Amino acid sequence: MTTNESHTHPMDNIEVRPLRFNYENVMMQDPVWSHSNPLFSIYINALGIHVPYFERFLVMAFRDIKKEITDEKLQKDVKAIIGQEAHHGRNFIEFNKFLAKRYPEVTNLDLRAKGYFENKLSDKSDRRAHIGYIAGYETFTYLGGMIILDGYEKWMKDADPVIRSLWLWHQVEEVEHGAVAFDVYKHFYGKDEWYRKAMIVKSLAHIAYETWLAYVPMCKKEGYFSSPSKAVKAIGFYLSFSCKLAIKALPVFSKNYSPRLHQTDSFEQNKIAVGWRAEYTSGKEVDALSSEAVMQLSSKT
Ligand SMILES: [Fe+2]
Ligand SMILES: [Fe+2]
Repeated sequence: MTTNESHTHPMDNIEVRPLRFNYENVMMQDPVWSHSNPLFSIYINALGIHVPYFERFLVMAFRDIKKEITDEKLQKDVKAIIGQEAHHGRNFIEFNKFLAKRYPEVTNLDLRAKGYFENKLSDKSDRRAHIGYIAGYETFTYLGGMIILDGYEKWMKDADPVIRSLWLWHQVEEVEHGAVAFDVYKHFYGKDEWYRKAMIVKSLAHIAYETWLAYVPMCKKEGYFSSPSKAVKAIGFYLSFSCKLAIKALPVFSKNYSPRLHQTDSFEQNKIAVGWRAEYTSGKEVDALSSEAVMQLSSKT
């Protein structure tokens, strides 16, 4: 990718795309959906279980504060992120049901996540805690979006079209709205940088722990704990991907950080993301993209 100032920034013009994914069409009904890297699919399945309840938390918390935002552009972005996350939450709660067919532990983990975020939302005494936590969390959904889209070939070039399309959609939109929660935090608590940074650490710890809780039974079911070498491989993947997230997050601790300026490639949009957005805008189906169709997306840009 080369720098091209004529590109629009991926965080402008956030669009709500009400997609639905049909998990009945998943190949062999196999939740280990990436053949390029099966452990990646297990990791991302595990990570995703609690995420729809965070998304619902974001939707409800931002609905509460929307009217207090005095910046018109930010208010518009907040409406858009609410729309996007509401649709993400719906699809991922359905995906949890699909996962629970193979991994019965998912049912309890889903309930656990639901309880955790509902409990958090019910405590209205500290608005900063809600906005700060959301900004912290969205740091990683955004960075995860970039990591996954940039590593498309490695992680999911050869994969089930439906689940891959679910994640492509989600990651494209997470990058697209990746600055909104940060902007909201800055709008209300701009000077309180230490709290923002503390929330980034807290949310990464929560994401890593929730992922681990699901990753272990999933790996066990898929036979990764049947031999020491397989177990080392599985645990190694968990550690390396979690560290990737943490390392990618280091710039967010700098004083002048903005998601819009994250890394030098902020204007070098991911070609698959650009092609995907164009494909959707042109009215084409994007809910079960074949490997060939995804490769064509990147060659269109
Ligand atoms: Fe999301
Ligand atoms: Fe998000």
